[in-house]
Amino acid sequence: MKKKQPKKRKPKKIQKPKPLRTVYNGIDVDGFTLADYQMEKALYDQLKAESNDENFSLLSLPQDNRLREIIENKRTMYLEFWNSKRIPTGGGRKSDKKILEDFKNLRSKKWKDILIKDANNNKIILWDFSSLDSGVNQYFPEMLDVPTTKGSVLDCLRDKDRFLNGYEKKILKPGFYKVEKTDSSFYSVFSQMIRMGSESHPVVNFPSLVAQYIVMESYYNTIKLNNGIENDNFVVLDECSGWAGRLAGILCSFHKLRNDYQSRYGRKLHITYLTTDPNKDVHERFAAIVNDWFSLVEPKHSLDYFHFHKQTLGCETPEFLSYCKGVLSDLNVSGANVALTSPPYFDQEQYSKDPSQSCVKYRNDYPSWVQNFLSGMIKNVYELLQPKGRFYLNIANTKKGSKLFPSETESVRLLKEHGMKEVVTYKMLLSGVPNKNCVNVTSVPNIKTKEIKLKKFEPVFVYEK
Ligand SMILES: C[S@@+](CC[C@H](N)C(=O)[O-])C[C@H]1O[C@@H](n2cnc3c(N)ncnc32)[C@H](O)[C@@H]1O
Repeated sequence: MKKKQPKKRKPKKIQKPKPLRTVYNGIDVDGFTLADYQMEKALYDQLKAESNDENFSLLSLPQDNRLREIIENKRTMYLEFWNSKRIPTGGGRKSDKKILEDFKNLRSKKWKDILIKDANNNKIILWDFSSLDSGVNQYFPEMLDVPTTKGSVLDCLRDKDRFLNGYEKKILKPGFYKVEKTDSSFYSVFSQMIRMGSESHPVVNFPSLVAQYIVMESYYNTIKLNNGIENDNFVVLDECSGWAGRLAGILCSFHKLRNDYQSRYGRKLHITYLTTDPNKDVHERFAAIVNDWFSLVEPKHSLDYFHFHKQTLGCETPEFLSYCKGVLSDLNVSGANVALTSPPYFDQEQYSKDPSQSCVKYRNDYPSWVQNFLSGMIKNVYELLQPKGRFYLNIANTKKGSKLFPSETESVRLLKEHGMKEVVTYKMLLSGVPNKNCVNVTSVPNIKTKEIKLKKFEPVFVYEK
């Protein structure tokens, strides 16, 4: 008998990962190695020793000094790089592989992992210390060029003397210790230092895992109240999309919500993200993140269960209200289950020049901003929420010189005036220099806090319709 030939297995098709749609995909940043640094540092130490001047600084050297020239060349090179290709926010550019890794890690994070307790009063604190948002930040290099109190971080690159000063302070003076350890992530350490040297604080993203916590908490709250979700569609309203930190939070809660819903009710849950932001420059980037997430992170066809609606209208306007009402009616639901946002803090940061940007529309007019923007936004949220739906509002006071803009108390007043009831106020820890609002985190287990004792926080007001 003829021996049957074993069936030839078809070779498995290896799926090539699709490239992500970050704006500088495929660009590499080089040009500064550990050897460069060591050479510059030796030159600097030598110049300093020769000068015999206590107040020695690079700025006091003649323009044609070799070290000054090296640093100036570097400045123009990076500026040219920014002008032509945009360098990413924070540290160095991440590869597609690393961004994808961040996304997958975000997705697998447990939703309660960001909860810590205030050692003083046992109250809950929200702290996402994972740095996983940096994957999503990679879609928004503009974050480096948002003017804040001392201009934008990129303004440091534009100003010759400021760059020289920052370079000396953060790179050539003792303390640039990370460089000694490794040169593999050299560029990222370097750009971080430049950022710090510029003394201009960069805008930060809303921590995605905090957003995930809020979404999950409000989901459990909703199903407890209603024994399910209206029309099996969980709707999250975000009045100011920002830099997609909240979008990423919702994306990483997506499979958790759906798995839980399926096991409880035996039905498939849809999730809707309804949002707006006047910043037209970055509008398309949100759809890119959603597409990347669903083509690379979630199983096939999951996008059928995620509904993404974004506008560029001002969230305080009647136009936005009627747009949202239209979407909600199309989805056959009576309102959003939860609202979550972090609006502009008056005019502290100038995100874009679009006329409906709140810092453009209410320029230099805080009372009008409170009355029209803040109040209008809260009024719209109230109208769009389902009864008992919660509004999580992250906002902070700002200062200009000695003048205080008390947006926190104004928000609380307006939330109450518009008929909402207080539930709780969370403290959300953020990176940045500790100010008056600080939490001592030394007692938090499993967290490397050797150097950081105090962390800055901002409130998240939770109110219910
Ligand atoms: C970036 S967030 C505030 C910072 C916060 N930490 C965050 O990332 O969520 C503020 C956002 O509000 C947006 N914005 C400004 N005016 C607005 C308006 N009238 N309606 C909705 N969004 C607005 C800005 O474009 C910006 O993206």
